[in-house]
Amino acid sequence: ADGDPEAGEKVFKKCKACHAVGADAKNKVGPQLNGIVGNAAGQVEGFKYSDNLLELAAEGLTWDEPTLTIYLAKPKDLIPKTKMSFAGLRKDEEIQNVIAYLQTFE
Ligand code: HEM
Repeated sequence: ADGDPEAGEKVFKKCKACHAVGADAKNKVGPQLNGIVGNAAGQVEGFKYSDNLLELAAEGLTWDEPTLTIYLAKPKDLIPKTKMSFAGLRKDEEIQNVIAYLQTFE
């Protein structure tokens, strides 16, 4: 990734109402996101995903950087019936930075 994790920490403020990362991160409105970059979708224990996300997860959806880039720009472009109610990040730079931040949590 060529994003800046420190700038990405600021971008993550837009995610924090619904997502936690770090030690003791709990599921909120959305699943905790430790280790999400590069991982299979729909795997966080105890989180109830949308049927649409689970269908795509069963087909092998994985949060590699290109896939995350599409989802974070406009979630419904990737998962039309996702229950993530978030319009998306407008700037590609913000997306790359927040991915770099997420990569710092295993
Ligand atoms: C799912 C990232 C903002 C609610 C996800 C997933 C990722 C993600 C990677 C998939 C997780 C998985 O497969 O385990 C982000 C990032 C955000 C953001 C980086 C900020 C840029 C938000 C906001 C909300 C939200 C603001 C609440 C209003 C959810 C929900 C899901 C989800 C409910 C589950 C989706 C489903 O089951 O279809 N998010 N998210 N997210 N997120 Fe977010």
